[in-house]
Amino acid sequence: MEKIIEIVREAAGLMVRSGFEIHNKGSVENLVTSSDLAVQHFLTERLGKLLPGSGFLCEEEDLADIRHSDVWIIDPIDGTANYARSNENCCISVALVHEGEPVKGVVYSPWRDELYCAEKGRGAFCNGKPIHVSGRSFKEGLIFTALCTYHKEFAATCRDILYDLYMQGNDIRRIGSAALELCLTAAGQAELYFEIRLLPWDYAAASLILQEAGGTVCSYDGKAPSLTEPSPVIAANTAENARRILDIVHRRLPTKPYN
Ligand code: IPD
Ligand code: CA
Ligand code: CA
Repeated sequence: MEKIIEIVREAAGLMVRSGFEIHNKGSVENLVTSSDLAVQHFLTERLGKLLPGSGFLCEEEDLADIRHSDVWIIDPIDGTANYARSNENCCISVALVHEGEPVKGVVYSPWRDELYCAEKGRGAFCNGKPIHVSGRSFKEGLIFTALCTYHKEFAATCRDILYDLYMQGNDIRRIGSAALELCLTAAGQAELYFEIRLLPWDYAAASLILQEAGGTVCSYDGKAPSLTEPSPVIAANTAENARRILDIVHRRLPTKPYN
């Protein structure tokens, strides 16, 4: 774990504050910067050397070499739209999956100076200190969610789900980095989480961190979100609150929105 953290911290040095190039990946919402690519290249090279024979599933450049018993799932920058605007809410997310199960997760937000990490069965930490979900009820719960930026065809459904969550819960937050939002839930700063369509690199590391902090994460069917395909992500500080989010989602969305 120490070595992974060292490599991730080093990679963050490539998240320069200015002078990077910004391109869009087919829509104005979906950006990639030269820093996303630099961080991904650095991580694949260094983590590949750390664990010879391991594979990679990474957001950029369609990198999906996953037929290995150890696979790194990497989002080089989660919250790229923030990063491109010098907003501090962005992070590097790295998970290690062994035989299909996430065993290590690191989420590092250099400008917030927060490093979250977890190993399966060993608890979750932020900057070396143990973190735990809050004990707040659904009614008290702060909600992290989004209207599905890259697939706005789901926005109206998300709006309806959000309305129900909002009326039954407390208030809404939106930071613009799924990994950070899940880690903040792990640290007790929010309680309820829903996104209709995320990719494994958005949540692989942060889900382990949230679970190790005592929280619950699942997909539309109540099972663990896929580590290879897009998935809805429902998460909460408690299993009971996650169940209640799932009930709201099922009521507004009686069938799975995509395969
Ligand atoms: C995005 C962020 C955002 C979430 C999107 C993700 P990116 O990741 O996590 O919060 O709402 O669904 O795709 O594109 O900045 O890596
Ligand atoms: Ca992402
Ligand atoms: Ca990204």
